[in-house]
Amino acid sequence: MARHTVTLIPGDGIGLETSAAMQRVVAASGADIEWELAPAGAACMEEHGTPLPESTIEAVERNKVAIKGPITTPVGTGFRSVNVALRKTLDLYVCLRPVLSIPGAGGRYEDVDLVIVRENSEDLYAGIEFEEGSEGACKLIDFVEKSGAGSIRPDSGISIKPISVTATRNIVEYAFEYALKHGRKKVTAAHKANIMKHSDGLFLREAREVAKRYEGKVAFDDKIIDAFCMSLVMDPSQFDVIVFPNLYGDIASDLAAGLVGGLGIAPGANIGRDCAVFEAVHGSAPDIAGKNLANPTAEILSAAMMLDHLGELEAAERIRRAVRSVYARGEHLTADIRRATGSGATAASCTEFTDALVAALEAE
Ligand code: NAI
Repeated sequence: MARHTVTLIPGDGIGLETSAAMQRVVAASGADIEWELAPAGAACMEEHGTPLPESTIEAVERNKVAIKGPITTPVGTGFRSVNVALRKTLDLYVCLRPVLSIPGAGGRYEDVDLVIVRENSEDLYAGIEFEEGSEGACKLIDFVEKSGAGSIRPDSGISIKPISVTATRNIVEYAFEYALKHGRKKVTAAHKANIMKHSDGLFLREAREVAKRYEGKVAFDDKIIDAFCMSLVMDPSQFDVIVFPNLYGDIASDLAAGLVGGLGIAPGANIGRDCAVFEAVHGSAPDIAGKNLANPTAEILSAAMMLDHLGELEAAERIRRAVRSVYARGEHLTADIRRATGSGATAASCTEFTDALVAALEAE
């Protein structure tokens, strides 16, 4: 088995616990991974004066593959999101989030199997914002008024929502290519083109153009985002691959995770042309951080995606098999899953769950 060097950004909050669990499980899978540790986040800010040091970016660029625990983003004030900065700097334009039922995980449905493809570089996430009362906000308000496009209250803060032809074509092409490669039948584009005609309208127009190239191979349809949400919770089996502008994809990811048992089991990846950074959908969960309560499944399944990406298909499949077997047995499940299943059984700690997973891998 080839040896791979992977950058590990442990993150903060529960990231410290889930990343350690993930490393144990990857080691037990037989994959030969050398971890290169790289810091980011609040503690890194205190130590290095920046939440995302250049050396961390360089480590990901050098190794091409990284796995990252969640990183806390201060609300309202403080540094901007490290996650967003990492995606931008490394041009990780795809956010890929498979949503798959795991029997025994307490999902609302037992047959969810869909893939979220979220645009990762623009939309309201672009970080182009003007503080209420700032010179920029005042100028923009004045410009909008004079252009005849409408009026904005003078005491408004403003976030800009750019959606480009380039980024839309790239993400929709990725969704179709993913569908072809993985034998998926349909791509659905979710949008609000009826209201935001020049941003979401452009997204839909370009998605339809790209879809024409795949006619006869992969089906295409589209849904307005609010109706999409209702359809998803009522019958997730009607969806296959779904492509979203950034913000809707962010929200829909958590919604879809809720259908299969919650954030504790939802994996993901940020993918660019040169590098890929794998990470769970969930955040740093400050409410349970440091208590050994976190469910590490999401980061462990993200590591399985990473092993697929590295060509270590067998080790990836062994991990997924072990996860399914631990959930099916139901003896060592973390508190989030006990709540989702409505079970009164004692919850396992993060460590106990990981022990069970490692034992399942070693018993193979
Ligand atoms: P969150 O995902 O951290 O937590 C939401 C709820 O889900 C909490 O009740 C938490 O306890 C629970 N939860 C999440 N992951 C869990 C797990 N693995 N096991 C058991 N329970 C779990 O979302 P929240 O509270 O909105 O964000 C907290 C911080 O994380 C914020 O600073 C946010 O910006 C950051 N964040 C970072 C992300 C990343 O690094 N990729 C992604 C999302 C949020």
